[in-house]
Amino acid sequence: MNNLTETSRKNSFSLTTPLYYVNGLPHIGSAYTTMVADAIARWHRLQGKDVILVTGSDEHGQKIQRTAESLGLPPQKHCDGIVAKFQELWEKLDIQYDRFIRTTAAKHEAIVREFFQRVKANGDIYLAQQQGWYCVACEEFKEEKDITEDGYCLIHPNQKVEWRDEENYFFRLSRYQQALEKLYEENPHFIQPESRRNEVINFVKQGLKDFSISRINVSWGFPVPDNPQHTIYVWFDALLGYVTALLEESDEPTLANATKKWYPFDLHLIGKDILRFHAVYWPAMLMSANLPLPRQVFGHGFLTKDGKKMGKSVGNTLDPFELVAKYGTDAVRYYFLKEIELGEDGDFNEVRFVNTVNADLADDLGNLLNRSLGMLNKYCKQGVPTFTGKDIPDDNEIKIMGMSLADKLVSVYQNYQLSSACREILNLIKTCNRYIDEKKPWSLFKQGEQQEVEKILYVVLESVRFAAFHLAPIIPNISNKIYHQLGYSLDFNQKDLGKKINLSSHGQWGILPLNQDLPKAEPVFAKLALPVTNN
Ligand code: MSP
Repeated sequence: MNNLTETSRKNSFSLTTPLYYVNGLPHIGSAYTTMVADAIARWHRLQGKDVILVTGSDEHGQKIQRTAESLGLPPQKHCDGIVAKFQELWEKLDIQYDRFIRTTAAKHEAIVREFFQRVKANGDIYLAQQQGWYCVACEEFKEEKDITEDGYCLIHPNQKVEWRDEENYFFRLSRYQQALEKLYEENPHFIQPESRRNEVINFVKQGLKDFSISRINVSWGFPVPDNPQHTIYVWFDALLGYVTALLEESDEPTLANATKKWYPFDLHLIGKDILRFHAVYWPAMLMSANLPLPRQVFGHGFLTKDGKKMGKSVGNTLDPFELVAKYGTDAVRYYFLKEIELGEDGDFNEVRFVNTVNADLADDLGNLLNRSLGMLNKYCKQGVPTFTGKDIPDDNEIKIMGMSLADKLVSVYQNYQLSSACREILNLIKTCNRYIDEKKPWSLFKQGEQQEVEKILYVVLESVRFAAFHLAPIIPNISNKIYHQLGYSLDFNQKDLGKKINLSSHGQWGILPLNQDLPKAEPVFAKLALPVTNN
């Protein structure tokens, strides 16, 4: 896969997570997308780029209205409570978002109204009768093939679809069939990964139908301009949240203001279930409003637990709050970003989780730092002469590996291959552990081979530093600890670090100046205990 578009080379990067429904507390699915987006944003920031990461909440529609009713709360009050929980979780997961847009914001209404009028003026909105089966959980009309024989939605097996027969405003999606086909053909990286692209192309090939963009039985939404009997369909409203998010605090809420700096987005990161909205409806809506299109839509896979689809009805949901409280932020981030190939489905199993993070972060990475710093203190009491990677022979196997990895990791991160990034880095760390075992610096020290010992410890410690730098978008707190133990005072949680300091040399292998007084080694990651199981 090579999607090095011109965007990845320019000096800014803009991306979004979906705007999450606030019908319930954040779950691990929403946390997953947000952790991935945060790691991508952090990587671009380390390159010194201007980055904007947009996230937020999707608050209108029948689903939220009903949830609030069932709780006996006014919808806005209900939304306020859930939004606070999302923001709390993002803080716990060290998510560095730049904008949090709520679709109930007044400025958003102004944007939605202006957009609606533009699309209408372009002749793409008309009134007609809508008949069909509706899934409130999906907030989407369903085809017969997407419904079980006894009337349940395939995506939400506990949700009966409901018959609707009402007058709605429609968006003339059919008019954009050819333009969309041309878009996919001319921009092969517009939809990623490839399998999702094919899915969308096949869907569009079957012929696009206009879709309804208003409701008459839902009060929780923005009224349609000129016809307040209708409210605007939640998806038509929500997608525009991405645009509203770009307004500056002091801006008048207009499309011109919202699109003047960051727009269009480089990346919409979403789950595969909402691909059609982002890769078909959204670009058609933007074309109609004469606005530029996003550069890429990436549809990631779904998380399962112990091999089963997660769901409230099955009772096997995974609470991200509990997970972070029990195991810590970096472990959670690491597991999901390493163990799941972005784009593929992935499974969570608590035993595998604990074993993975213990093996990689404690036994391999943490232990390598610990043992080599320990040896440095023991065998190089007089301090080590000032040297860097240049003093290491070019045929040193660790140097060769580290240097070639530096370039590789750039393209790996540019293509959002976070899992490969972790695996490649861990591979270097494992090789270093083997290298120490083979070279036996303790014997060399006894034989008086002081210089050899210093070189071995240098290549190993430099590799740990290199690993910490490249893992910083994923495990920023562990990277900080490693850096501090190697004598640096950088803070990878400082958002503008890459702007303040040119970090490009840190991405290279061979920069550690091993001539400083290093603090005493301390474990950077304490091993986690395996969960107690009943069987
Ligand atoms: N509100 C819409 C998005 C509007 S964007 C303008 C929505 N919200 S959602 O809260 O239901 O879903 C948000 C994201 O969470 C989606 O990308 C969805 O794919 C993702 N996930 C929900 N459950 C998931 C898993 N079990 N696994 C991985 N991601 C999942 O859709």
